[in-house]
Amino acid sequence: ATMSSEAELIHMFKGIPFTTRSSPELLKSLDTFDAREDDVLLVSYPKSGTHWLAGVITKLYDTQVTLTSPIEFGDISRLEELNKLSSKRIIPTHLDYNMLPENFKNKKCKMIYLCRNPKDTAVSMYHYYRDNPNLPTVETWTAFFDLFLKGDVVCGSWFDHFLSWEEHENDKNILFLFYEDMKKDLHKIVSEISLFLGLSVSDNDIQDICKKSSFSEMKSDTEKENSDPSHTVCALTSNRKLIFRKGAVGDWKNHFTPKQNRRFEEIFNEKMKLSKM
Ligand code: A3P
Repeated sequence: ATMSSEAELIHMFKGIPFTTRSSPELLKSLDTFDAREDDVLLVSYPKSGTHWLAGVITKLYDTQVTLTSPIEFGDISRLEELNKLSSKRIIPTHLDYNMLPENFKNKKCKMIYLCRNPKDTAVSMYHYYRDNPNLPTVETWTAFFDLFLKGDVVCGSWFDHFLSWEEHENDKNILFLFYEDMKKDLHKIVSEISLFLGLSVSDNDIQDICKKSSFSEMKSDTEKENSDPSHTVCALTSNRKLIFRKGAVGDWKNHFTPKQNRRFEEIFNEKMKLSKM
């Protein structure tokens, strides 16, 4: 990344890189945020499958719900905007646990944490950096690989993010999900989500939701509604086309050299030594 583009696009808040699309004023004020007991938070590190999960969840409700953009995205007027919404709010966020507004914790709001193999997450994020003008330029996969391991990317270190949430794995209001499990058996995971959210959705409806949430369906939906930029839940782009790239498990094998893989595993084992993962 060149220094000038870094400086324009990225700023640090509490030691974590954010894009300038998250204003420092907003980040500072998040702790005053008014959570509602029926808010549902979709929590993830970037590129873990947030849009997929959001697509599934909004289809589960037969009452009116609003999928907002991430809570940390925008300027200070965001808080007011979110306050004004009269319907139930589904709120995505990439914040780590410590930075999450206290009110969500005090009110025991339901939260779903979505996790993806960090190797695939890194590859997905690399392509996203390359395709997204709102992110600093990266020249090569090798360069990005180093930045990712150092946590020198938007939202900081994958390891710190995951560990901050894993500490709360047994909280009754938090459901942990894995991208890979969604790929393996979406029906099962959607039933789990529906149970967690206290919804009663028939098996038939779940089947229908799964069909509509396949990678190819979601990608082609995007191509249809491409003219409408307001549909993204990612703070870093309003272009939905950038989100649906490959949607596969194991794409890291097409990018990692054997040496990079060894280095990744070393760091993974070190950072995750107290983790159950
Ligand atoms: P790839 O870049 O590996 O293709 P996020 O929504 O958190 O930004 O994550 C984006 C990643 O989720 C992308 O990964 C994208 O292709 C994948 N994805 C989006 N919708 C999907 C779906 N319906 N099924 C599987 N993967 C999906």
